[in-house]
Amino acid sequence: MSRAKVEIDWRPIPPSKWWMHQPERIKKLRSGHIVTDDALSAMKAIRAEVADIVFLDPPFNLGKRYGNSPPRADKQQRPAYADFLRSILLESARVLRPGGSLFFYHIPKVAVATLPDLSAHLSFRHWIAIGMKNGFVRNNNLYPAHYALLHYTKGEPRALTRPKIQPSTCPHCGEVTRDYGGYSEHVIDGVNLSDFWDDVSPVRHGKYKYRKENELPMLVVKRAVAIAGIRSGLLVDVFAGTGGAAVAARSNNMRYIAIDREESNTELIIDRMQHITKHRKTPDA
Ligand SMILES: C[S@@+](CC[C@H](N)C(=O)[O-])C[C@H]1O[C@@H](n2cnc3c(N)ncnc32)[C@H](O)[C@@H]1O
Repeated sequence: MSRAKVEIDWRPIPPSKWWMHQPERIKKLRSGHIVTDDALSAMKAIRAEVADIVFLDPPFNLGKRYGNSPPRADKQQRPAYADFLRSILLESARVLRPGGSLFFYHIPKVAVATLPDLSAHLSFRHWIAIGMKNGFVRNNNLYPAHYALLHYTKGEPRALTRPKIQPSTCPHCGEVTRDYGGYSEHVIDGVNLSDFWDDVSPVRHGKYKYRKENELPMLVVKRAVAIAGIRSGLLVDVFAGTGGAAVAARSNNMRYIAIDREESNTELIIDRMQHITKHRKTPDA
């Protein structure tokens, strides 16, 4: 992915200024901080206006098992879940620096419900539709075919890059598959990334996964960082899981705070980061 110009004059906030109260279970690496804690309590300990990106891929409240928590931990009453998300979104707006970006990934029904809360504090930029293969239909609905990745900024964006991606080509003949109205030779070096991402494949096969539970494809977090990343800036992910967003931040010379309440996940992220430090690169970094 190549990028058009982004950087704006700006001074990074050092890690010593990230926390109001430091969480107990914190691992400090040179590249960032990894915290085992509940998302909301850990977020409340972060100082206001320190994050350049807040990336949120929350549990979907579908009764999934994460780490050692029982499935019922991911099955709250609907109002309690909505309140939890609302509090997380308000905290996200608080910790974002002016010009920073919030990304919120969810199913469209929940994404729509969060719009009033988000719009009260932040400026809408994009509803990115991420193609979903094999969605299951529920009740009287059409087949779901996309997830929503909402992108909001705190005022005018400090960084907003339009990444270029390779045009899709036929696996057999190598020709560009879309009709660019006679301009296909001009898109060989890349086409502008749009707000419709239909080239994202789910991480299904065990050999590409870091854990049994779902992982967000690296392509999604890499693109979010490519769009809104700032050199030496801070990305905060409070549902870090396997830490893909933190890895994408690190690969783009950003720092990160990665939080997850499951120790099995935070240990995995620490291992992943230490592996990167040792080998200086990973296939997905
Ligand atoms: C949908 S997954 C995120 C997956 C992650 N984006 C990845 O690619 O691996 C949600 C994560 O949130 C964590 N989680 C659930 N409830 C939490 C809470 N209240 N506080 C912190 N983490 C929580 C789960 O352990 C799980 O790893």
